Amino acid sequence: MMMDDIQEVLFTEEQLKAKAKELGDKISAEYKALNDGKTILAVGILKGAAVFYTDLVRSIDLPVHFDFMIASSYGDATVSSGKVEIKKDLEFDVRNCHVLLIEDIIDSGITMECVMRILKERGAASVKLCALMSKPSRRKIDVNIDYLGYEIPDEFVVGYGLDYAEKYRNLPCIGILKKEIYSV
Ligand code: IMP
Ligand code: MG
Repeated sequence: MMMDDIQEVLFTEEQLKAKAKELGDKISAEYKALNDGKTILAVGILKGAAVFYTDLVRSIDLPVHFDFMIASSYGDATVSSGKVEIKKDLEFDVRNCHVLLIEDIIDSGITMECVMRILKERGAASVKLCALMSKPSRRKIDVNIDYLGYEIPDEFVVGYGLDYAEKYRNLPCIGILKKEIYSV
């Protein structure tokens, strides 16, 4: 039923699981090498990253603390990079923590560039970004993605946490939404 609105499946449930495992292995190896006893704080950006978050953290073979933020860029990307609203902030103090930000997709880059800057200003020991997808052709501000799942073209995608008007988040795969659904 939900699949009727999908033009093309980009990534299947199995591919997404495998990608989370691949990224988790890489993250595990790099953070193990740090070996400085500092807390690793896995910060999921709600709500879009929720599904990816749960797959990714389960493939990281190190103790991580869970925390979440809700942040969204408002106004248009033509305005300055500061226009990001934090609707839900972290529970933990990031000082002395290695923060691993986990995001669904990097589009203009404005949200993540701002969140990373804020967490560095708060004194995190390090701030790294793991994003499942990136649309490089849409970038308005440069953001360094430390761990990236896939580069995708400029298409509107849903599923595996990503929504259109709060719908399709629970679709197990990621697909391109049919244009007729959002161009009324
Ligand atoms: P930006 O990088 O600040 O422009 O914002 C990225 C956010 O826009 C993501 O966290 C998503 O919530 C949303 N987004 C961007 N592209 C898509 C898409 O194709 N499908 C669903 N949400 C998207
Ligand atoms: Mg989002």
